[in-house]
Amino acid sequence: MTSLQTHQNPPRNRLVLALDVDSDSVALALVDELKDQVGLFKVGHQLFTAFGPDVVRRIVRKGGKVFLDLKYHDIPHTVARASAEAVKLGVDIFNVHALGGMDMMRAAAESAAETAGKQGIPVPITLAVTILTSMDEASLRRDLKITRSLPRTVAHFARLAQRAGLSGVVASPQEIKMLRRAVRQRFVILTPGVRPSWAGKDDQQRVLTPGEAVAAGADYIVIGRPILKAEDKAAAVGRIVEEVAAAVENR
Ligand code: C5P
Repeated sequence: MTSLQTHQNPPRNRLVLALDVDSDSVALALVDELKDQVGLFKVGHQLFTAFGPDVVRRIVRKGGKVFLDLKYHDIPHTVARASAEAVKLGVDIFNVHALGGMDMMRAAAESAAETAGKQGIPVPITLAVTILTSMDEASLRRDLKITRSLPRTVAHFARLAQRAGLSGVVASPQEIKMLRRAVRQRFVILTPGVRPSWAGKDDQQRVLTPGEAVAAGADYIVIGRPILKAEDKAAAVGRIVEEVAAAVENR
């Protein structure tokens, strides 16, 4: 159990801000402005590819917690080595693709635990991406030759991740309730595609509000543009955290 992996998590710790920006100075300024108000900052492929691990180290040095969203998918040995490096960077959450298979997921979980032990730091939360939400049943069947329904496939990969020793999954808003029934209670669910009622949907399709996502069983919600585009970002975060707090209380 890590420091973050507790269901007594204060509401603000459940909010993950996606740092989907093309400048490291903008990303770091967001960390300075919001680190006392949001739980974690998500560093994804865009920021990482442009600025490398240094941007992660700089966020961590500022006291920001990081979700490293690089979705590792490779042979188990390589993923184990990459996972060890993620732990050494000091991230609090990182993820892998469940489609990499049981051995790969197990290698990630074991390497994270072992490296954290050696470093004397808490074991990060390790998440699996099940099926990318950009894929539908038709593309599953056509491209991956997976003929089960999408929800059954997602549940299958979530249970596989659980057996592999990962901490949880990344799940779309529509999958939360189904997954809560499919996995054990303390399995972490982190959900993007969340939109406050006062924000536009951008390109997200079937969204839930922060309150709805937490009520459905999400432990963490990832939000980017509604905060990044807000004139008063701190106020936007404040409204979201209030909504999460109300949902946590009623859960
Ligand atoms: O700006 P927005 O709130 O839509 O950002 C959501 C973040 O979550 C983005 O970084 C996006 O890549 C990520 N994400 C997503 N849907 C998924 C998986 C990840 O929106 N299924």
